[in-house]
Amino acid sequence: MVALPAAPRRQAVFVGCGRVKRMAMSSDALSDDQPLLESEVPSDPTELFGRWFEEACQRNNAGWLDPTAMTLATVDAEGMPVARVVLLKSFDARGFVFFTNYDSDKGRQLAAHPHAALVMHWPHLRRQVRVVGSVGLVTRAESEAYFNTRPLGSRVSAIVSPQSRVVAGREALELAVRAHQEQGREAVCPARWGGYRVQPEAIEFWQGRENRLHDRLRYMRDDDTWGLQRLAP
Ligand SMILES: Cc1cc2nc3c(=O)[nH]c(=O)nc-3n(C[C@H](O)[C@H](O)[C@H](O)COP(=O)(O)O)c2cc1C
Repeated sequence: MVALPAAPRRQAVFVGCGRVKRMAMSSDALSDDQPLLESEVPSDPTELFGRWFEEACQRNNAGWLDPTAMTLATVDAEGMPVARVVLLKSFDARGFVFFTNYDSDKGRQLAAHPHAALVMHWPHLRRQVRVVGSVGLVTRAESEAYFNTRPLGSRVSAIVSPQSRVVAGREALELAVRAHQEQGREAVCPARWGGYRVQPEAIEFWQGRENRLHDRLRYMRDDDTWGLQRLAP
C-alpha cells in the first residue's frame, strides 16, 4: 500500500485501501440528504440539467474541481469502449457540445460510429449525470466562433498538434509551435478541428442519498417528449 500525503483542509480526497473513504469534504458540499423526486423534477431534462450544472458551479467554492469536465465514451472499430475527459462548452435542448480534433482517435471513432456516452460527476453535490445519444458535428460557424475565444497559445497548440498520433517527442511539438509563430501565420480554426453535439436519447440524474439508497431518475426520449423512469440504485 502506498501512503498518501495528508490532504489540505477543504479538499475531498478519495483514497483506496480496500474500500473508498470520504475525507475532509469541503464545507460547500451538500451534507443534507437531498431527495430527487418524480413529483418535483421538470418534464424537460435540459431544465433539470441546467439547475444542477448551475449548482455544481455555484457551490464549487473550494474550486477543486472543474464542473465542465465530463467523461466521453465512444467505441472503436473492434467494438472496444474508449473513454477520456473533455470539457462541456455549451448545452441546450439540442444537446451537449464539446470541441476537439476531428482526426483524433475519438473523431475517427465518432465518424465510424456516431454514438457516445457522457458522464458528469459532481462529488461535492453527490450527483452524477449520464447521457447517451447520437453525435453530430456543430456548424462550422459555431466551431470558428468558439475557437476564436481561445487564448492564442491554445489556438496554436490545437493547430500544430496531430491529436492522438504518436510523435517523436515533446521537442517535436514545441518546434512546431515555434515554427508557427516564426512564420507569423494566423491562428485560424483548422478545417479538421471543431465541435460535436451529443444529442441525448436518455439522460439519467443520480442523487446520492442516505445509506446508499440513492435516487436515480432516467429521462427517455420519445419523439419530441420525454418519459421518466425510476431506477433502482
Ligand atoms: C480536464 C481535461 C479536459 C480535457 N478537455 C478536452 C477537450 O475539451 N477536448 C479534447 O479534445 N481533449 C480534452 N482533453 C484531453 C482528452 O482527455 C484526450 O486526451 C484527448 O482528447 C485525446 O483523446 P483521444 O485520443 O481519445 O481522441 C481533456 C483532458 C482533461 C484531463
